Amino acid sequence: MALDAERKLGQTEEGWLTDSWYFVAASKDLKAGTQRRMMVLNQPVMIGRTEKGQAFALRDICPHRLVPLSAGRQVDTEGQPTVECPYHGWRFGTDGVCRHMPSLVEGDPYDPTRISVRTYPVHEAHGMVFIYVAEDPRRNPEPIVPPPDFGALPDKPKFVISEVFNAHMDDAVVGLMDPAHVPFVHNQWWWRPPSAGFKIKEKRFEPRTRGWAIAKHQPSGNSLAYKALFGGNVTTEILFQIPGYRWEIVENDQASLLTLTCLTPQEEKKTVITQITFWSNAPLLNVLLPIFKPAARMFLNQDGRMVDLQNEGMKYQKAMMWIDDIDVQAKWYQVLKRAWVKARSANAEFENPIEARTLRWRS
Ligand code: FES
Ligand SMILES: [Fe+2]
Repeated sequence: MALDAERKLGQTEEGWLTDSWYFVAASKDLKAGTQRRMMVLNQPVMIGRTEKGQAFALRDICPHRLVPLSAGRQVDTEGQPTVECPYHGWRFGTDGVCRHMPSLVEGDPYDPTRISVRTYPVHEAHGMVFIYVAEDPRRNPEPIVPPPDFGALPDKPKFVISEVFNAHMDDAVVGLMDPAHVPFVHNQWWWRPPSAGFKIKEKRFEPRTRGWAIAKHQPSGNSLAYKALFGGNVTTEILFQIPGYRWEIVENDQASLLTLTCLTPQEEKKTVITQITFWSNAPLLNVLLPIFKPAARMFLNQDGRMVDLQNEGMKYQKAMMWIDDIDVQAKWYQVLKRAWVKARSANAEFENPIEARTLRWRS
């Protein structure tokens, strides 16, 4: 029992938060009657959608001889959707319970329904599919936090792009929230021309649900693109929430644009970054969609390249430096993670440790 009491809950050995929701797929990529294998927090997960359209997620290991269930097919079993293992045909419902073992003969002492695989609660909304990864893999408890909520959104995104970063989730998160790299890494002329020069930025940060926000402000003068697209009176709000969601809302009286970045840890040094973009009442953006998408991809590639370069150093050294105020957000991310683990370990309510503060830097 003493050991149990010391065990930290709410985080895996690899440093990924549990009892948390992770983005796993764009709805449009999950066709009815199909399923696929995906690594999530170093575990194989089958993400699928039944013929009737319900998304589901099961551990992608058949308990019989461990082959991936995702390699099988979906079949109907007494009116219920099931996935049939390709090896010996055991069938599992979307609730993880085994419904059929074809080899059984009358009088065999086995009850298929006593066997089950782990299920992951699934939430699908606005064209996005999330799964809940509970701390305890043996149980299937009610999620302790509701699925992520990014405010009012259109039914589906305008576009979704994703890229695999060769980085631990923590390094990927920190890389994306780092304001100091922008003038060096994202200095394409239409976004941040070198002639823009450095300006002093002063931004008000405030605590929000399991994270923080840069309160509504006018976007920085050196982002030409926003001005061109929206005209006057534009405000920006940027939010971060653990385990790894960052979203930016740009809006004025008529139009709004929301860019959401979701991070999903797959393996120790493999993190999927998915960028999901919504907008409404912005006809100019509809016209620009064909160039908007490659532009967003360019941003991600630029960040991915820095991650690869960073790996060159990480082979030889672990220690990094953190400089105020530019790296305060990176520190907050760590502080939030520790607070999460503390709360989960004590089975207590999560308390946001972040205090409102103004940060200043040059970028
Ligand atoms: S391995 Fe799945 S049924 Fe045998
Ligand atoms: Fe970046």
